[in-house]
Amino acid sequence: MSDTVTVSPSSVDLRVQLGRLHLANPILVASGTFGYAREMEHLVDLGRLGGILPKTITMAARPGNPPWRTVEASAGLLNSIGLDNDGLEAFIEHHLPYLAGLPTAIIVSIAGRTVDEFVAMAARLDREAGIAGLELNISCPNVSGGVDFGTDAGLCGQLVRNVLSACRIPVIAKLTPNVTRIADIAIAASEAGADAISLINTVQGMAVDWRKRKPILGNVLGGLSGPAIKPIALRCVHQVRQAVRTPLIGIGGIATIDDVMEFFVAGASAVQIGTANYYDPTVSMKLLDRLPAALSEAGAASVAELTGTLQLPARPSADLPSKPSGT
Ligand code: SIN
Repeated sequence: MSDTVTVSPSSVDLRVQLGRLHLANPILVASGTFGYAREMEHLVDLGRLGGILPKTITMAARPGNPPWRTVEASAGLLNSIGLDNDGLEAFIEHHLPYLAGLPTAIIVSIAGRTVDEFVAMAARLDREAGIAGLELNISCPNVSGGVDFGTDAGLCGQLVRNVLSACRIPVIAKLTPNVTRIADIAIAASEAGADAISLINTVQGMAVDWRKRKPILGNVLGGLSGPAIKPIALRCVHQVRQAVRTPLIGIGGIATIDDVMEFFVAGASAVQIGTANYYDPTVSMKLLDRLPAALSEAGAASVAELTGTLQLPARPSADLPSKPSGT
């Protein structure tokens, strides 16, 4: 980024590279907020998106958690869906043919109960055409065992390593903020060879009906998303950027072009739009319309020129690892 060179919006290069994954632009839609994309085609020009992450799939079908599964919170949304999905083979048969035909990157979000299950899913999906990448959902707070891999650096590293050796598709690890030091988990994913790291998944929370003296969500606890968690997500991206060189995908309360730019400056190379899709399904199109002018205003000819350009005060932060790790 240069203070002296003027970059015109039309000359901005929106392409981004996340490890082995090449995207036409850095605006993606987050898993679980865009269904399987077909239901959005009348609202959104799907081919304009940098990438689509369909709802997380598991090896076997899951009915999900009992109602209520969603409840509004102040500046956010609590969900406890419980990975409701029809399973891997149903996804391959019913959803993948449509998704694979779209002129955008399809990144399949997978969740397994064990390393072997993750590996088996990755190996099975590797045989299918039209998948640009896998996102390992090791961060769902709403299923039993859903965050184990995301809260234990050793398990996270082992999982990423084994999945990478079972498939040729680029692999992204999606991390949870519900840990003491997210950088430690990111270092493990990075050293295991993850192509990119997505952060953050939802922040664990709950809602209470005091008159009934009952929790509102059927599963008692849920995951908070939306504008309320943006500062937490920015903090996590910043801390992880200090710890690893692996490309980061920022997620958490992103709804405006200023939000997008903040995540780039903090260290993200791309972003996923999540909860905002629920109240404005066209928000990703608006962000794409505004992105070239915003990068031009920042004097950046590409996203890479802006990524991680946050200028820190001279005093080092006490909570950051001292050395970058990984590629
Ligand atoms: C869910 O299905 O419970 C939400 C997915 C997630 O938080 O990863």
